[in-house]
Amino acid sequence: MKNEWQIRMKNNAAFVETQLERYLETPDEDLSVLYESMRYSALSGGKRIRPFLVIEFCRLFGGTEKEALPFACAIECVHASSLIHDDMPCMDDDDLRRGKPTNHVVFGEDIALLAGDALITKGYELAARNPFVSPEIGLGATAMLLKHAGGLGMMGGQQIDLLGEKNPVDFPLLLKMHLKKTGALIIASALLGCYAAGIASEDDARMKDAALYAENIGLAFQVIDDILDATSDDVTLGKRVHADERMQKTTFLSEMSIEEAFAYAKQKTDTAVKAIGKYENSEILVDFAKYLLERKK
Ligand code: IPE
Ligand code: IPE
Ligand code: MG
Ligand code: MG
Ligand code: MG
Repeated sequence: MKNEWQIRMKNNAAFVETQLERYLETPDEDLSVLYESMRYSALSGGKRIRPFLVIEFCRLFGGTEKEALPFACAIECVHASSLIHDDMPCMDDDDLRRGKPTNHVVFGEDIALLAGDALITKGYELAARNPFVSPEIGLGATAMLLKHAGGLGMMGGQQIDLLGEKNPVDFPLLLKMHLKKTGALIIASALLGCYAAGIASEDDARMKDAALYAENIGLAFQVIDDILDATSDDVTLGKRVHADERMQKTTFLSEMSIEEAFAYAKQKTDTAVKAIGKYENSEILVDFAKYLLERKK
């Protein structure tokens, strides 16, 4: 029997995929190569954990999936963009993602670059055009998403990651890297859920608790990603394992043993759970945080 959060996970992913399918329809024959490439990455499975957070934070704070869905699709477009670029030869040079050849392997680097750009801008457009929220909420949510995806957020984290290849990165910088390259989009997901529920200010205590939860699960998520890279296999993970070692990346395992890294991720998960435990109906997000720790892919 599936747990409640697993049923929600499956249903939320299905909502998002049906909607993304519409948002990413090929507009005309002349644009078909670019759209095929965008669709290839955005509609190729994936755990859809960021949309889950958008929808469940919206529900936690009194909204429904209707207001959350455009934001959930927006963050998944931004995430898909980051994966396309992350896999390119100039970055991590990976040829396998979600069990399939990476975007640039199928479409070439030129189209992959454009598909990444077109998906990230599609994400911002979807957020700004969410028809189920007020203009004030739409603007606040979109500006927040732009900030977390950009230089101070995910992209900044990717820069630290790239410069950390072959170079020592001290622990505070390693933490900063993980919090940005992976944490930023996870924080943005939780905050998008709050915006969708009608919370307009990031000074609101609920937003702060959501950010604290997301910051901690985001950090734990990337620590587990580093562990899985070292301990899993290509088929289970759907990505090439030992990619970090091949690119001489600085990861959590450059600093500590697998057991220590896991204990660190567990500690962060406990902090996350504490941040939201006081809210009624937070069990789904509590169970989800625990699943992220135990995940195998
Ligand atoms: C992979 O993210 C990239 C990282 C931030 C580690 P996910 O593990 O969420 O990837 P998908 O979407 O499920 O494939
Ligand atoms: C990815 O980190 C972070 C982003 C895509 C922004 P990784 O490079 O570790 O992700 P994987 O392991 O390739 O999915
Ligand atoms: Mg990378
Ligand atoms: Mg990578
Ligand atoms: Mg990785």
